[in-house]
Amino acid sequence: MKKIIEINNISVDYDLEDDQEPAINNVSLDINENEFVCILGPSGCGKSTLLKAIAGFVKPFKGNVLMNGVEIIGPDKLRGVVFQEPNLFPWYNVFQNVAIGPKLGKTSKIEINRIVDKYLAQVELLEFKNAKVFELSGGQKQRVAIARTLANNPEVILMDEPFGALDSFTRQKMQTMIRELWNKNNATIFFVTHDIDEALSLATKIYVMRSGEKSIVMDYDLNYTFRLLKNPKERVYEEKEFILLKDEIISLLEE
Ligand SMILES: Nc1ncnc2c1ncn2[C@@H]1O[C@H](COP(=O)(O)OP(=O)(O)O)[C@@H](O)[C@H]1O
Ligand SMILES: [Mg+2]
Repeated sequence: MKKIIEINNISVDYDLEDDQEPAINNVSLDINENEFVCILGPSGCGKSTLLKAIAGFVKPFKGNVLMNGVEIIGPDKLRGVVFQEPNLFPWYNVFQNVAIGPKLGKTSKIEINRIVDKYLAQVELLEFKNAKVFELSGGQKQRVAIARTLANNPEVILMDEPFGALDSFTRQKMQTMIRELWNKNNATIFFVTHDIDEALSLATKIYVMRSGEKSIVMDYDLNYTFRLLKNPKERVYEEKEFILLKDEIISLLEE
């Protein structure tokens, strides 16, 4: 398995002068090609900070983050980011929002069209190509944001609670969609969530972060996502093993 991201014992502090604890402490993990990594932990434990360190938005004061062996020193389109808020340009239509990345290169118009159509089809929004942003629902906007990220062909996709603002029904549909997109595009995903069911049903690997340590305290290898790929309706949530694992993680987070 090819290692894409290597995080070596990083600590991040937003303000080294104040006497607050660092936002994350001594975090180490790898992200391998084709993995679906979930970071799971309560609010404030440092999930977003870890994601920002990988994106290159913040710099660790200790340790380093490598991508393909090279230290990350700032943002790069090789690492696509999807936030909880879709952050679309309201004066652009759906097509124009997704075309932003492809248009930055020397890509021909025909090729830009092909790329945008491909990813709008994947998020089932092809017929909304000319729609204005304000005409879309919350879930549709987030699908545009995902298509926009995919259109940049990133090597790794970083997602920070991307479905956190959606109702539970839309959220479930989005989970099925992201699992299928991950599989179809042979993508590598780093996904932040505080939702245990979401993490268990999407991840090939879960890292649990705790507020006390502001660090990773446990990791799990999982295969529910492969089973749900085969049959999205399989009731893995009701299995004894699933419930026990969930209980174990809850008690870990309560400690
Ligand atoms: N921009 C910031 N400036 C100062 N402190 C911050 C900033 N962002 C986050 N923090 C602090 O860092 C810690 C981790 O926050 P964060 O990474 O946002 O956690 P999570 O995403 O798990 O909710 C928290 O104590 C939070 O208050
Ligand atoms: Mg966060």
